[in-house]
Amino acid sequence: MKKKIILDVDTGSDDAIAVMLAGLSEELDLIGVSTVNGNRNIDITTTNTLRLVDYLDLDIPVYRGCHLPMVVSLTPNRRKNVPYIGPDNKEEDVHGDYLPLPETTRKEEKEHAVFWLARTLTETTEKITLVFVGPLTNLAMALRIAPSIVENIEEIVIMGGGYAINNVTAGAEFNFWIDPEAAKIVADCGAPMRIVPLDATHDAYISWEDSEEMLAENSKASKFCGLLMQQRITGYNLFQPLPIHNTAPIHDALAVAALIDPEVLQDLHEVNMDVCVSHGIADGWSLFDFEKRNRARKPNCTVALRSDRERFVRLLKENLRKSK
Ligand code: BDR
Ligand code: CA
Repeated sequence: MKKKIILDVDTGSDDAIAVMLAGLSEELDLIGVSTVNGNRNIDITTTNTLRLVDYLDLDIPVYRGCHLPMVVSLTPNRRKNVPYIGPDNKEEDVHGDYLPLPETTRKEEKEHAVFWLARTLTETTEKITLVFVGPLTNLAMALRIAPSIVENIEEIVIMGGGYAINNVTAGAEFNFWIDPEAAKIVADCGAPMRIVPLDATHDAYISWEDSEEMLAENSKASKFCGLLMQQRITGYNLFQPLPIHNTAPIHDALAVAALIDPEVLQDLHEVNMDVCVSHGIADGWSLFDFEKRNRARKPNCTVALRSDRERFVRLLKENLRKSK
């Protein structure tokens, strides 16, 4: 039986690859995609998601979610760039504003993503798996509206956080940094949770050769993925070079891949994860208590510190090949 999933995105180049993978996989039943403010403002992330599902002719409803994080922008000087408009140097931009896809007449659903999440997870008769690859605002809000939805969540797979690797500040990863309070609410919600942090996604890097291989495929999804990969590699080479030249992570796709094949995630640890909402230099930091120092906090997630790159890239190529 196919696994019923909901995917929440801030599309975004790697989000786009995650949507393609989730939408094309025969193992997953993607019942809807929700959008959130993150890599860009909500108008852009929603438009990009609609363009993408239309381009691939995917029959998947898209729900527009929160346009701002829960509270982070209320405190003066806590954040300067919310909604985010991308890096100053546009050459470093791995997302761009709009995906280079035809404009679409496809419309988002009328219901707000938060209400849709709360309603769907309340009414469902079978448990649903959630994959969240942007800031966690929509889920945190749904949990505040309807905390009992936790009982109907099979698992939450989250791309977010970092242990030895971070990407916005010395301590924080982008998704958690954009909305730390939301990340903390979700971390403490009590549902089974797998965390796919930067440590795992950087291990599952894609290479320029991978991108060329995908561009040469006779499939819309593979070609578009190849293009996005090259955009990401070019940006990473400039602002955050990986140890191997001409490679880049495609974070969000790894979280979706973990639902199709759990073995893509490696070096798993059952730990307590907390998220720092300090407003200070550690704001948004994901704290993994490997030594179980804080006895008051029990393990609340499984975190993957590594991944099987070959397995992931193979899975991605096989699935994206399925589009026309
Ligand atoms: C995360 O931040 C975003 O820029 C990416 O889409 C990914 O979800 C990585 O830190
Ligand atoms: Ca994302």
